[in-house]
Amino acid sequence: MTPRLQTAVSAAARDIEAVLDQLLPVTDGLERRLIEAMRYSALGGGKRLRPFLVTESARLFSVAGPAALRAGAALEMVHCYSLVHDDLPAMDNDDLRRGRPTTHKAFDDATAILAGDALLTRAFEIMAHPATHGDAAVRAELVLALALAAGAEGMCGGQMIDIEAEKQTLDLGAITRLQRMKTGALINFGVEAGAILGKAPTALRHALAGYAHDLGLAFQIADDLLDVEGSAETVGKATGKDQARGKATFVSLLGIDRARSQADMLADQAVAHLEPFGPSADLLRDVARWVVERKS
Ligand code: IPE
Ligand code: IPE
Ligand code: MG
Ligand code: MG
Ligand code: MG
Repeated sequence: MTPRLQTAVSAAARDIEAVLDQLLPVTDGLERRLIEAMRYSALGGGKRLRPFLVTESARLFSVAGPAALRAGAALEMVHCYSLVHDDLPAMDNDDLRRGRPTTHKAFDDATAILAGDALLTRAFEIMAHPATHGDAAVRAELVLALALAAGAEGMCGGQMIDIEAEKQTLDLGAITRLQRMKTGALINFGVEAGAILGKAPTALRHALAGYAHDLGLAFQIADDLLDVEGSAETVGKATGKDQARGKATFVSLLGIDRARSQADMLADQAVAHLEPFGPSADLLRDVARWVVERKS
């Protein structure tokens, strides 16, 4: 990672952590355990890539910091919910996440399911709240785009295909679609959110969408490579599990070397889409390289 990206990502992660902390206040009453599980799932760890994409794309259109941070925090809540449910025994059955016990291990399955549900719901509450943007049309656009990214045509649909694919062999086109849905959709939304907040012109939205499209796929190929080549200490989650479960990935189909060159090629393509933005998109260019070179 370039030093300038390291500095920017660390600062953004601190800001997002503070906003998440404020948006998930502890309450009293018998439901307190739910809030604690939500906080456990959302605070203290993670690369915070998705909120960084929101704040960086928003910066291209001079969006005020607090608006982008709220939208970024909402997206991170949806991401954390997806991880909590992905780790459940009924799905990937994982015990380790972000270097700590998964939420259902630290609490229990029912609490983890509810924490995921409530994080997802809180995310929409935040997007729809006037504090996120003064213009109701912008808020409605954010809500619609997030719903499309998270639902049956996006992350949830991708997770369904991921499970179905354990029972059959997918070709490259089908695996690409799976990855774009389960992982690409939320990453796309991150980049799109900045453009929505900034009421960006159509041509620039298309350029950013092209960037996000390639970035999301590259990101999941890198995740699949880390599952084969990484260790639990550095990655913060168990490795070697995709092959054991018969998951369909670029690595299972192409092997390590070709999967890596595919990821590198996608990162180059992602960068090429940023041309219209000039130097103001340099950090987003650095992100594309980081995503494929990362060790965690
Ligand atoms: C993990 O996402 C799940 C995938 C979509 C591959 P991240 O690698 O962004 O996980 P955190 O947020 O940094 O823990
Ligand atoms: C999960 O993909 C992506 C989502 C949570 C939507 P993986 O199952 O590969 O993610 P990890 O490896 O558990 O983080
Ligand atoms: Mg999974
Ligand atoms: Mg998993
Ligand atoms: Mg994985």
